Amino acid sequence: MKSIIEELKDKALKELSGLEDLKALRDFKVRFLGKKGEVTRLLKSMKDLSPEERPVFGKLINELKAFVEAKVEEKEVELKELERKRRFEKERLDITLPGRLPRIGGLHPLSQVLGEVVDVFKAMGFQIAEGPEIEEDFYNFEALNIPPDHPARDMQDTFYISERVLLRTHTSPVQVRIMQKYPLPIRIIAPGRVYRRDFDVSHTPMFHQVEGLLVDKKVTFAELKGTLIEFAKRIFGANTEVRFRPSFFPFTEPSAEMDIGCVICKGSGCRVCKGTGWLEILGCGMVDPEVFRSVGLDPLEVTGYAFGLGVERITMLKYGIDDIRLFFENDLRFLSQFV
Ligand code: DAH
Repeated sequence: MKSIIEELKDKALKELSGLEDLKALRDFKVRFLGKKGEVTRLLKSMKDLSPEERPVFGKLINELKAFVEAKVEEKEVELKELERKRRFEKERLDITLPGRLPRIGGLHPLSQVLGEVVDVFKAMGFQIAEGPEIEEDFYNFEALNIPPDHPARDMQDTFYISERVLLRTHTSPVQVRIMQKYPLPIRIIAPGRVYRRDFDVSHTPMFHQVEGLLVDKKVTFAELKGTLIEFAKRIFGANTEVRFRPSFFPFTEPSAEMDIGCVICKGSGCRVCKGTGWLEILGCGMVDPEVFRSVGLDPLEVTGYAFGLGVERITMLKYGIDDIRLFFENDLRFLSQFV
């Protein structure tokens, strides 16, 4: 009997030392000290002992019970501490980790470049003007010296709303509205949306232009050139090469187109500049006498220059973008490169 008690004690100690959490400890308690536990079983077995043996073993068993209970309590304290530590470890925060930044949006590349273009002209004293996107034939064509049989009125190009009303195909009608309304000198740029029936890698039905107009007395072509050369250098860099080519627009005379040295090949000739080394970036010229007449100004008295550029085209050249449709697809992989 004594050896049974010793064995049970050893067994209890061994099992206790191997316990890893409070649940295991609770199970252990039931198994040893519970109503059907091993110690209770031992107490019950005392009925088979002789009356002399009983008190001796009763004492021993009670000692064992007290011993195991004390050990269980000790273990409980130990395991509680251990579990607390484990929980802390699991919930540990690394306060040295960098914070998670919220994703911040950015301006669309077209808005960025338009902003730059506007800033350049604002710094030169130009004011910002606006006009309607739904425009009358008179402002979009007639007053700009584009007669009814002019190819620019082709149904292929223009979105007509009715016989006399259309979506403006360029920002030039703002010139006419401003000259009708304001006294000289006029020095404006007019940024805005324009619309044409066209859709491929370099055309979208809606795109953006910036119109420029300066009207005063004795305005010269040299001033136009100086202004636009400065503009090109501020947008594309101080070393940008610039050239003017004679051209034709119904609302300017003489007319020109301005090219910059190809931003891709720097002039040696590539696919983007079609081997010429030059890229066309805008149209310009001296305001045609017919345009002055249509707004009631005397072409012998006043002179002026005008220019018009495409914001998409400038942006594509600036960043080497080869498909205009990317601007309007809202693909974040594209847009996030400009944040
Ligand atoms: N309106 C022309 C276009 O849409 C661009 C343009 C050319 C505007 C010459 C001008 C100019 O003011 O002088 O293609």
